[in-house]
Amino acid sequence: MTSEPDRDTVDGNDDVVGRYDDYVMPIWKSLNVPVKRASNCTVEDYEGNEYLDVFSGISVTNVGHNNEAVVEAAKAQLDEFVHGCSYVHPSEQVARLGERLAEITPGDLQKSFFCNSGTEAVEGAIKLARKYTGSKEVLALEMAFHGRTLGSLALTGNKAYKSEMAPTINDVAHVAPPYAYRCQMCSGGPCSCACADDLERVIGTHTSGDLAAVVVEPVMGEGGIIVPPNGWLERVKEITHDHGGLLIVDEVQTGYGRTGEMFATEHFDVVPDILPQAKGIANGMPLGAFTASAEVADAFEAGDHLSTFGGNPVACAAALATIDELEDGIVENAREQGAWLSERLADLEAEFDVVGDTRGLGLMQGVELVDPDGDTGPMGVAPEPAPKVAKQVGNRLKESGIIIGVGGYHKNVMRFQPPLTISRDQLSRAVDSLHDALAEVET
Ligand SMILES: Cc1ncc(COP(=O)(O)O)c(C=O)c1O
Repeated sequence: MTSEPDRDTVDGNDDVVGRYDDYVMPIWKSLNVPVKRASNCTVEDYEGNEYLDVFSGISVTNVGHNNEAVVEAAKAQLDEFVHGCSYVHPSEQVARLGERLAEITPGDLQKSFFCNSGTEAVEGAIKLARKYTGSKEVLALEMAFHGRTLGSLALTGNKAYKSEMAPTINDVAHVAPPYAYRCQMCSGGPCSCACADDLERVIGTHTSGDLAAVVVEPVMGEGGIIVPPNGWLERVKEITHDHGGLLIVDEVQTGYGRTGEMFATEHFDVVPDILPQAKGIANGMPLGAFTASAEVADAFEAGDHLSTFGGNPVACAAALATIDELEDGIVENAREQGAWLSERLADLEAEFDVVGDTRGLGLMQGVELVDPDGDTGPMGVAPEPAPKVAKQVGNRLKESGIIIGVGGYHKNVMRFQPPLTISRDQLSRAVDSLHDALAEVET
């Protein structure tokens, strides 16, 4: 008699990956490192291999995998109740988290809506901007990423995510990103934030003038860790307001300490009109939110927006604990380790021709790989991107037990976005491994 495979246990990494092949839709799964357990900055697979994680499951586990305080808070709430639909039964957790977000978000941002993901937070923010302004059109940046549902996908400025999925929502136009390394605007001269000024031209030529919102990331994550120049966000807000729109600053990836401040907008002298958040907010429990001033938020009336699972009390309890942990020295660690990492990465840029640029804020740092002997790149001002080399370097790091992100619009950026609890020794190990991998690809 042949025995049936046991459905309730898993027999190693290949078994997990094999079941994916058979039963899970073929979405992105580049690493093939199934995680059995994880703790702080370490993940372990089904064969006992341990990896240092410097990508945090795409920038999510900011206070460390399986953070004890967060797990305890979620468990305590599980014992009370799991679901009540916070929009039917007001819950203490939503009330407390709403109050907490009013404290930690910039300026006069006060009232929040809770949902389950980043893409929903962005979609809801667009609806709120339309309701408040009474206008329809939305502008976003080329190379931006704001999610994959049809509204947020329309804002995402990258055809790789859109092919065969059109049509998305209408009335979205795109404007050049603040990508200094491949800047098309200032022709290699000193930055004058010409890309921000170009917003005027795009509003004049690509819209009917019925502007509801301009949506930007304060540091572009999926685009390749692109940090805007000083003055850019301020100018974008000014132009947006001059045309009657609201500024939506998408902090889904940059929020919750990632850049060395609770929110990345704190690096700039700007308070957004609406602030979408997700990813790090509850350290991996599914939760999203968008926060606005009372004046803007009160444009919504009962029935304008809703989510059955949004504001789940277990996720909100995890978020409250995550914020406490962040404030207890973890954001500061991100700032300190980030400053050190940025210097080490600049050393790599000086040493290796294949490193075209290094940039970032806090523990959101990118290393852009190029072909130094190739033609000029697509933007006409920097060497050609080297996506194959980036993939090779990512695989080399995996072999040495380090999980790093490989991404960017040109798929040529090594992304350091570790848990913000990471130690100097761990970061140092990751940088040394990157150094060795770069030395290998350059020979
Ligand atoms: C800036 C930004 N906005 C929105 C999203 C979408 O978030 P989610 O994947 O939770 O829907 C992402 C995800 O990477 C993101 O980086």
